[in-house]
Amino acid sequence: MSSAAIGLFDSGIGGSSIWQALQTELPQENTCYLADNANAPYGDKSPSEILALCEADCAFLIERGCKLIIIACNTATALAAAALRSRYRLPIIGVEPAVKPAALATHSGSIGVLATKATLASEKFLAGVENHVKSKGIKLLARSGSGLVELIENNQLHSKEMAALLDVHCSAFAAAGIDQLVLGCTHYPYLRAQLAARLPQVNIIDSGAAVARHTRRILTAAQLLNPQPPHQAQHEWFSTGDSRILAQFAPSGDSVKQIRLSQISAGEAEK
Ligand code: DGL
Repeated sequence: MSSAAIGLFDSGIGGSSIWQALQTELPQENTCYLADNANAPYGDKSPSEILALCEADCAFLIERGCKLIIIACNTATALAAAALRSRYRLPIIGVEPAVKPAALATHSGSIGVLATKATLASEKFLAGVENHVKSKGIKLLARSGSGLVELIENNQLHSKEMAALLDVHCSAFAAAGIDQLVLGCTHYPYLRAQLAARLPQVNIIDSGAAVARHTRRILTAAQLLNPQPPHQAQHEWFSTGDSRILAQFAPSGDSVKQIRLSQISAGEAEK
């Protein structure tokens, strides 16, 4: 049993979609979430730049005493999870595009993935596609969502620019006859309603609930679950950039009573 916090990090506010899934699965756990929005987006950076940022993010969470880290970012998982696991001793859980469930669920034989450029180019992603999609004769249209993360981070979720980008992506997915769309970036669940309106026949899949269930399994096996009642859970959210965006994505109301927002400098996360 441990009351230490679960640490999560992302290039920005996307990790809050994983954080919300965690609230449903493990509401009794304390959390510490780092949004490295001063350095967003990660998806257009080189593998070595992404790894250096992820090491700084992990060091910050470890310094704060976290018992487990969730890499709440597909890009960071694809490029850095293996190196982080070999460097740090605490359990580290990653987030991956759900291509396997999509391949199992498809009836049309065609699935779509929307993810960052770095995720789509990563060996980890390409190996998953080979094993679970191509070898089963399923067609895949993978599109890089360049620009989407920047718009979400800049409070442009419902802007004309966003609508124009989503129109282009969804036309291509519709033309490919997909019936499953994998959201391969933790920012994209915030686009679910807009995507569903453009692709009404398509099942949209994100990885949040699966990651939360996996976290429960790992904490249970390591005997690290927090026995406290959910209403005592404490949540700290840190951002390395403008913290006002965090306030907009932080749930309000009775479900989360204690959430503290703080702004730190990117340098603090890099110490
Ligand atoms: N939320 C991150 C992901 O899941 C966004 C990556 C980025 O910053 O480009 O990939």
